[in-house]
Amino acid sequence: MTASLLNQLSSLVGQVFTEMDLEPELGRVVISQRRELGQFQCNGALAAAKKARKNPREIAENVVQALEETGHFSELSLAGPGFINMSLTDQYLSDHFKALSSNAQFGARDGHKSEKVILDFGGPNVAKAMHVGHLRATIIGESLRRLREFLGDSVVSDVHFGDWGLPMGLLIKEIELTKPDLPYFDKNNEGPFPSESPVTVDELQELYPSASARSKEDAAFLERAREATFELQQGHAGYRALWQHMLDVSVAETKIDFDLLGAHFTEWNGEADTNELIPPMLERLKSENLSELSDGATVVRVEEEGDKKEMPPLILQKSDGAVMYGTTDLATIEMREADHKPDSILYVVDARQSLHFEQVFRAARKCGSTRADVHLEHIGFGTVNGKDGKPLKTRDGGVVRLRSLIEDAIEEARKVVNEAGMDEKFDAGELEDIATKVGIAAIKFADLSNQRMSNYVFDLERFTKFEGKTGPYQMYAAVRIKSMLRKAEEQSLNPGPLQISADAERNLILALSQLPEAAHAAADKNAPHILCDHVYTLTQEFNAFYHDCHVLGEEDEAIRASRLTLCAVTLKQIETVLHLLGIDVPERM
Ligand code: ARG
Repeated sequence: MTASLLNQLSSLVGQVFTEMDLEPELGRVVISQRRELGQFQCNGALAAAKKARKNPREIAENVVQALEETGHFSELSLAGPGFINMSLTDQYLSDHFKALSSNAQFGARDGHKSEKVILDFGGPNVAKAMHVGHLRATIIGESLRRLREFLGDSVVSDVHFGDWGLPMGLLIKEIELTKPDLPYFDKNNEGPFPSESPVTVDELQELYPSASARSKEDAAFLERAREATFELQQGHAGYRALWQHMLDVSVAETKIDFDLLGAHFTEWNGEADTNELIPPMLERLKSENLSELSDGATVVRVEEEGDKKEMPPLILQKSDGAVMYGTTDLATIEMREADHKPDSILYVVDARQSLHFEQVFRAARKCGSTRADVHLEHIGFGTVNGKDGKPLKTRDGGVVRLRSLIEDAIEEARKVVNEAGMDEKFDAGELEDIATKVGIAAIKFADLSNQRMSNYVFDLERFTKFEGKTGPYQMYAAVRIKSMLRKAEEQSLNPGPLQISADAERNLILALSQLPEAAHAAADKNAPHILCDHVYTLTQEFNAFYHDCHVLGEEDEAIRASRLTLCAVTLKQIETVLHLLGIDVPERM
């Protein structure tokens, strides 16, 4: 038995189609948008009739007749020229519910071909605090990581630290200007060097913008930074030691942000980890005539016939010998291929880097950097905007730090939680835990519920509302079920076998049965918003059920026990899906 209810029904109807010499694919069953006509519908009789040059109503009538004989349907009817409406018997629904609720993934692993996937997300940079741009990379990436693991894929998650290239040379030379007496700048000093970092992460945050500004005014400084970058890449011992300090303090800082956001990485590799691989890679590409010289730079041409836009070559090495963002990305692909032999490598990175990834992927294919069938995909996303509709900036026009966004969200959550009277119910520690979870849920759900490629406006007041399609509301719905189940336990009311007695129960079961479809579609399209839609549907259907049906107050013991089971399974599924979105549910609110 396949776990997806729609697949079961589709194959049942498909079989009937086959027996009538019609294409089984046309027997596809979908959830009905008009529940009053039936729980499901199948519109395939029309297409089948057209192909077979028969009367659609006649075909549909025959299908209905055959389906009646199965005994699985409580209602079968025809509408219009040949639409089939159907509702399952309560027995069938109950059996399905039982199978679904005994499976940790609610049957979602069925029909998913598991693969080895590398997810490249987060993407922080040395010396630059994570900013608003990394928010989406982290939230979306982590959600896809959890989803893929849920579906049974083997997932490698790699943070791909931005730790190589010109910014490193700029930082080294800027530090030299401010602290010339440090031992790192002398080429002849082979070490050992101090184990304590000469710079803190806060200093680095200041140093980088000032170095960057200086390089724009002072050509000689820029030249020295270029040279330092090259020497660092060549193994200059002092620069290497200083660089290691910068990396270490930066990594420690970003770990705080990732912990706050619940992001998990199996690998902490960076661009620099490809350094040893680059010379042999360049050597190979040259000897196989895959790269060429262009104005002194080594490039791989990646334009293809039929290109509508200009496709510049991927620059691997500039005339000064320095390697670029694309070089480390290409070498990283070769490293990943060697280390993991993945089926897919997915990059969750700002949509504005799409040209870069197109160039890198084309170069990788042209250069045979992976086996030919490895799937490389850039999972882009839109920007986070301010209320003025432009990319979010601080009041004085600066880059918004990720940490301050998170802190603002938690601060807003504290307000909302107090307004809801929770400050009177809980002690300070629990209240703070709730506010933190509400704040994080608010930004995550708001981010993930948008179509990935759209921009959205960062509006904490809207995100933290305890109503509608917000994270806090979905969370609150789960907490309410928790507290009801706790009460049941206190009153020694136990859950029991399902016994369907109301339409609201049937609708809730149907909603629960949709998880496999939602999870598959979300994974296929790398679209967490589909999971948001699913959890929203669940909480809506649960509310309707709770409105129509007594649970704790139900007199009939068997029905009450059945409803407690339904509540427990609904809670489990809501919590599961929220977990896939990176949202933790508190015990009480
Ligand atoms: N560090 C980059 C940035 O801040 C993102 C890295 C994305 N991953 C990659 N393999 N290029 O823009």
